[in-house]
Amino acid sequence: MPAKPFEPDGSSSSTARMVAELAPWFHNIHLPGGLQTAPEHVLGDFPANKWLRIRDHLPGDLRGWQALDIGCNAGFYSFALARLGAQVTAIDNNAHYLRQARWAAGQLNLSPSIHFEQMSVYALARTRRSFDLILFMGVFYHLRYPLLALDIVARKVKRRMVFQTLSLPGMEIFDTGEDRGLAERSDLLHPGWPKMAFIEHKMAGDPTNWWVANHAGVTAMLRSSGMRVIENPAEEIYICEPGGKNDWTSDFIDKGLRELFDPV
Ligand SMILES: C[S@@+](CC[C@H](N)C(=O)[O-])C[C@H]1O[C@@H](n2cnc3c(N)ncnc32)[C@H](O)[C@@H]1O
Repeated sequence: MPAKPFEPDGSSSSTARMVAELAPWFHNIHLPGGLQTAPEHVLGDFPANKWLRIRDHLPGDLRGWQALDIGCNAGFYSFALARLGAQVTAIDNNAHYLRQARWAAGQLNLSPSIHFEQMSVYALARTRRSFDLILFMGVFYHLRYPLLALDIVARKVKRRMVFQTLSLPGMEIFDTGEDRGLAERSDLLHPGWPKMAFIEHKMAGDPTNWWVANHAGVTAMLRSSGMRVIENPAEEIYICEPGGKNDWTSDFIDKGLRELFDPV
């Protein structure tokens, strides 16, 4: 990950020192005065370039909205939502990234609109809170138990969820709408059958890249956890709303979550 801060005229050397001290950065945050936290990011001006593909698919005024940013990292998306007026809860299980996010929020004068918390996505199962808008981006493939997390998160969405995950190439969808016999198992090998590839070792040097789903798999899992995909504004990005719940699946998920998370 790129770390060398760019220091144009107008940025104090103490800001540059903090940027260097808090490195490495995954999010390129543009700080007041022009300093950027990761200007040489391999993905370009990341994730501003991704946000450009998303923001027009969300309401332009989020005043009165409670938002949750899961795996907030250095806080880029939390800052974007706060600027649109949302009150944001930003969680990440990594203390290093939360330090970056808290510091950057202060620099951007956004601290009053964002509550940061070191917390795992699974721990949301123990909270009663739900949120108008949830960003669940760039985290799913890092999870050993991704569908468990999606079932938990889907139950916390009141209005919208933005979902993004590392995906297998291809957009094909094979119709899975009917029962299939055991003798028809070769259908599961179709490129458009919903699936996730398991990474036992590493991908891109990261041992926490556990699962890579295909497009059919992402849409099927979102549906199965009770979300309706309403837009697919860019590759790997899904705008969803609650709905289309199948009662049997929903009861099954609720029972499973109770078995896992209710006190004995
Ligand atoms: C690839 S980064 C994505 C950051 C940001 N959401 C984005 O889309 O740019 C993954 C982030 O998820 C966090 N993360 C990984 N596992 C998590 C978990 N179980 N609960 C909460 N956050 C997690 C990591 O610490 C990291 O900040």
